[in-house]
Amino acid sequence: MHSPMHRRHAGSHGESPPETSGLLLDLGWRYDLMVGAIDLVTGGRLRALRRKSLDLAELRPGEAVLDVGCGTGTLALEAQARVGDAGRVVGVDPAPKQLARARAKATRRGAPVEFRLGVIEALPFPDASFDAALSTLMMHHLPDDLKRRGLAEIARVLKPGGRLVVVDAEHPGHAGQRGHVGAGSLGIDEIVGLMDSAGFACSEVTRARLLPFPRLGRVGLVVGRCRP
Ligand SMILES: C[S@@+](CC[C@H](N)C(=O)[O-])C[C@H]1O[C@@H](n2cnc3c(N)ncnc32)[C@H](O)[C@@H]1O
Repeated sequence: MHSPMHRRHAGSHGESPPETSGLLLDLGWRYDLMVGAIDLVTGGRLRALRRKSLDLAELRPGEAVLDVGCGTGTLALEAQARVGDAGRVVGVDPAPKQLARARAKATRRGAPVEFRLGVIEALPFPDASFDAALSTLMMHHLPDDLKRRGLAEIARVLKPGGRLVVVDAEHPGHAGQRGHVGAGSLGIDEIVGLMDSAGFACSEVTRARLLPFPRLGRVGLVVGRCRP
């Protein structure tokens, strides 16, 4: 889930991506094609992972939800169906083609999801704006220091007691190592430690098989609750 990537790229949809040391994945509709193909060969594992992530977030009608690194918006659109018309869902990603695809899908479905160009390290929202936040398969796109900063930003924009669900690789490997994925080397167990330092009380990691590749072969899902 991490190729081709760009650190910076001239936007072809009228928006320029913000500066970030995270790895953009700017595939637009090709991303959805890839996800569909993965679901086909794995018997729907990505679809099941999205459902499980939303179950863990315990979304309720009327809640405000943030999807960070939302890609083409599939999860955000499913979150909207759970919070309903009285709720609010916002997806943030620095990749213009991903966002253009997400917005087109929202328009086609008449879903009031807002998709904003932005980065996890500088979320464009006031403190305590959201009841829940989601981050699926994006943490490995960030260098490890950015994971720390990003988690602190999510804690800032969540209300006290707000939930964060993180899904990411168990073992992304180390930079330069064969099969390494992404921009850092911390896997889900270390991310739990970072979440704790950022002010979250975390649950046990739930593990799941994902892709037939060594480094994204297994993922972990964890829920953090923002300590008041
Ligand atoms: C593998 S995709 C995951 C997309 C989606 N969450 C999903 O589950 O399908 C990782 C996403 O993280 C985004 N990303 C990279 N750097 C980021 C940053 N600094 N802040 C927020 N998102 C970032 C990429 O552009 C990409 O869309």
